[in-house]
Amino acid sequence: MTPGPLSRRSLLLGGLGAAATLTAGAGAARALTPEGSGPFGGSSAGSADHLLSGLHEGLVVTDLEVVTVTDTSITFSWATYPGPHPFYGTVAPTVATDAEVRLAPAGAPGPLPVVHHDDEPRGFHLVTVEGLAPGTEYAFECRSGGIAARPGLMSTHQMWSPERTGRVTTLTPPPGAPVGRIAVINDVHIGEERHGILVAGMPTPIVQAEGLPPFPDLMLAGALAEIRARGVDRLLVNGDTTDEARPAEVARFVEIMNGYGAHGVDWHVTRGNHDRPHTPSSDPAAGYERHAVLPGTADHRDPWGEALVPRQQMWTTRVGGLRIMGIDSTHLDASGGMIEPHQHEAIEAELATDPHRPTLVLAHHPVTREAAFTNAAGPSFVVPQHDADRLQSAFTRAPGVFLMAAGHTHRAKRTAPDAARGVDFVEFGSCAGYPGGYTIISLHTGGYMVNFHRTGTPEALDWSARSRWAAYGLNPEYTLGTTAHRNYVVHRDLAALG
Ligand SMILES: [Fe+2]
Ligand SMILES: [Fe+2]
Repeated sequence: MTPGPLSRRSLLLGGLGAAATLTAGAGAARALTPEGSGPFGGSSAGSADHLLSGLHEGLVVTDLEVVTVTDTSITFSWATYPGPHPFYGTVAPTVATDAEVRLAPAGAPGPLPVVHHDDEPRGFHLVTVEGLAPGTEYAFECRSGGIAARPGLMSTHQMWSPERTGRVTTLTPPPGAPVGRIAVINDVHIGEERHGILVAGMPTPIVQAEGLPPFPDLMLAGALAEIRARGVDRLLVNGDTTDEARPAEVARFVEIMNGYGAHGVDWHVTRGNHDRPHTPSSDPAAGYERHAVLPGTADHRDPWGEALVPRQQMWTTRVGGLRIMGIDSTHLDASGGMIEPHQHEAIEAELATDPHRPTLVLAHHPVTREAAFTNAAGPSFVVPQHDADRLQSAFTRAPGVFLMAAGHTHRAKRTAPDAARGVDFVEFGSCAGYPGGYTIISLHTGGYMVNFHRTGTPEALDWSARSRWAAYGLNPEYTLGTTAHRNYVVHRDLAALG
């Protein structure tokens, strides 16, 4: 079929909600452009198809990513740099240029037609092609300055990567009628100023460009604006809403979220390890001492729990026939996870009341062995095995549980279940750092579709262009994940949602 109308994602965003108070203005879109750099002409050197292709003078068009694939759309992103351009290192300034996408059903005769061209110069490009046919393979090419974009990461440069093959197939929607859409955001980190630190201040963190709003604020506001424009039935925020649960950070998170809607009505939240209680002595300037001592602790204060959900307390809510369960998987004093016995008992009692009810579960920490042994910080970074086993055992007695979403690792990755064979365990990419976005779960009576979306406001894309260089550019290799882990369909009997 012929591709239909095309649009930049930024078209969705004009003057929407919370973002209106946070945008840096369109000028920020070109903040990374080197002074005095003009338009670049085409260069055949830029089309060399290997990882050293950027080590030449002239325009380098790279970091191609097939970010989102739905049943009717494909979203591409790529970046343009002045060469020579190593793929790892410190923050690399982009150079602003045009954006073009050529696309057609695979096997269609003739050269690929141009389906999108945008002369507005930008350094980090995000283009969505809409109006596509479901379950159809498309051939594509993204171009800037007359040069085809190539993958820049090892993770997008595999033999089978759509970024390498230039072919991608739109999803086939699940069977049955659409019955609702749920948005999930995780790892917002309001208050964080230094991004990408792994341990003891290393590696050198990425910071926001001078004069621009704090990156967590603008990434959250941009995501909320897009989610609102898309229209969802409920928004779930899955932990690490703040940097260190400082009272001002909690207040700022709540203020931004209140611009979206009411807590417990329009949005719900779980606690992440960064939101855990703190002692006043851990940061005397934070103001923790203005809050009461948390019962059962010597001197921990819990401003997050006072404003949102008390510590180690599960909650549930309903969206039509769907049950959503939020779990507090956080340790009192560590980045790893835990679920205390009383919360296990509450989870088990709730599931037992209606075990076949279609149920979506959220906890900040992943709970599978695969997640424990594949995340960069190892098993101690997630929920301990005995807690994971007890939770998955409860899921085996509640066959309505179909999906459990986590954050924490900041990566987009599905992992295999252990005991709970019928549950889709997935970690979603982070809001604040690369890949920088949110996830939409589209529910049908016969299953569901999951799609990660990169936040497309100009200031969000500028931050993505910087956070691309976290851990000297290696962080995205871990967090971006594959197109198939960010976008997929599961067939499942969800007829009770109809
Ligand atoms: Fe986080
Ligand atoms: Fe976390």
